[in-house]
Amino acid sequence: MIALSLIALATALGSSLLPRVAAHGYVQDVTIGGKNYPAWDPNVDPYQDPLPQRVMRKVPDDGPVIDITSPDMACNQGGESGAALVADAAAGSQVTFQMVRWPSDHLGPVIHYMADCEGDCTTFDATKGKWFKIYEDGFDNGLWATTKLIANNLAVTVTIPAELKSGQYLLRHELIALHDITQPQYYPACAQINVTGGGNQEPDPASIVSIPGVYSGFKWPDIWSEDFNSFALPSPALAKFAASAASSPAPAPSSQAPAPSTSSSPAPAPSSQAPAPSTTAAPAPGTSSAPAAAPAASSTGKAKCKARTTKRSASEKAARRARRHAAGHAKRHHQH
Ligand SMILES: *[C@@H]1O[C@H](CO)[C@@H](O)[C@H](O)[C@H]1NC(C)=O
Repeated sequence: MIALSLIALATALGSSLLPRVAAHGYVQDVTIGGKNYPAWDPNVDPYQDPLPQRVMRKVPDDGPVIDITSPDMACNQGGESGAALVADAAAGSQVTFQMVRWPSDHLGPVIHYMADCEGDCTTFDATKGKWFKIYEDGFDNGLWATTKLIANNLAVTVTIPAELKSGQYLLRHELIALHDITQPQYYPACAQINVTGGGNQEPDPASIVSIPGVYSGFKWPDIWSEDFNSFALPSPALAKFAASAASSPAPAPSSQAPAPSTSSSPAPAPSSQAPAPSTTAAPAPGTSSAPAAAPAASSTGKAKCKARTTKRSASEKAARRARRHAAGHAKRHHQH
């Protein structure tokens, strides 16, 4: 009888009593050129026929990339090849990435890079990108970039450099989670953007990096160490443009700032001093080449999240897809 009533209760409540695993996050939608586009939804989009057309490249799920040498570092697993659409955006305008969710203990930087698609983004191999950084936010005044993102309704807004020459670019959005000091987690996702009305500048060649490659040899700090109170982001510095050397940062974008869409996102305003919604300008550069303190060997990192394996054969992928479809995609990873 008890078992029966439990079943009845569970049924009444849907699946809410079933064991759940903590989920990480992915991009829900993106606002480019004042227009809002749904991102690739890994739980829904792969099973539609025909496949939906997106400006964001695929992500396989809400989990991280772990192997910094993997091609998945560029635009996530499946994101090396193109999405169907390219969104128009004026140089100097803003782009807002809206996450579906983000766990508050997944502390770390938020970084954005761009890469010229050298033509058509829908066919451009992301691993060939010559990436330059346009936005970085790490740890400032006791606050992590991911904490500010959560407080900003899970959104982050970046500005396309006004000086940039027109053409198609990948804009790579990246959250990095450092809560497990033995295993940093990377959450990249790429939008395809057609930059219009640009200033005809290319970024300083010194600021170009490869991805994978950009984090090789970088030591992330032990964020749980008692001594931890500051942190220099990995190189490169924010890209410089010849035209901007003497002038002020990117001009304010045109009319209305894109609202961070959605009503569904929980907005847990954390501490007393709400962090400034990180809208326009990137944080002051300049410190990025200093090596971070070597991480202490302590093991007090928080929850460990199991990562997806990086390489899969086609048959493994097919089997996995079938399994996920059947199981309604379950809990391969991310046990806390
Ligand atoms: C990009 O913008 C230019 C200028 O408006 C336009 O001519 C071109 O067709 C656009 N390309 C794509 C792929 O949208």
